[in-house]
Amino acid sequence: MNSPKKVAVIVGSLRQGSLNRKMALAAAAMAPASMQLTLVEIADLSFFNQDLEATPPAPWVTFREQIKASDAVLFVTPEYNRSVPGVLKNAIDIASRPYGQSVFANKPGAIVGVVPGAMGSFGAVHHLRQILVSNNMPVMAGPEAYIGGADKLFGADGAIAVDASREFVLKFLGAFESWIQRFAR
Ligand code: FNR
Repeated sequence: MNSPKKVAVIVGSLRQGSLNRKMALAAAAMAPASMQLTLVEIADLSFFNQDLEATPPAPWVTFREQIKASDAVLFVTPEYNRSVPGVLKNAIDIASRPYGQSVFANKPGAIVGVVPGAMGSFGAVHHLRQILVSNNMPVMAGPEAYIGGADKLFGADGAIAVDASREFVLKFLGAFESWIQRFAR
């Protein structure tokens, strides 16, 4: 059997009780054996400042290496003011530099939007697509994942307690696996 595809998971919220983190962990636990989902932390990344590029801070270097070593990247993000949270944009800016060396380039990606509200992070997901396209990342088009009502989704054990949502996430992961295969080098 081929070794499992390594998927770096970036969560767009730093909050301890984050619903997006719950979704990322639930997805990691549910993923088929052919995929290995690992959360890559962004909390220690300082604000991007091009002046620091000459001697990049250690957390920037580690973050870039973690993405580089992965076969694919899964973004799980809330929406802030109809867009991507600043912490996530900052992490992407760091991964995208130095110029011409974005670690996202040609790496398959997928996006899951998770919010308690009804609109399912639609604005953030589409702004994120736009950002990733500029990094030449092939982002899976479908199925689209706009997960609303997420405050009622998880059981005490952290698993997705709603059958239809659990099945959807499994289907999404299956589609992402096929998407990753297409770009396998
Ligand atoms: C929000 N929230 C929010 N929700 C939404 O559906 N659309 C939005 O535009 C916003 N805007 C927004 C801005 C800011 C600054 C905050 C703090 C929150 C609510 C947000 O979806 C909710 O707090 C989620 O629970 C955040 O995700 P985590 O932290 O649970 O993963």
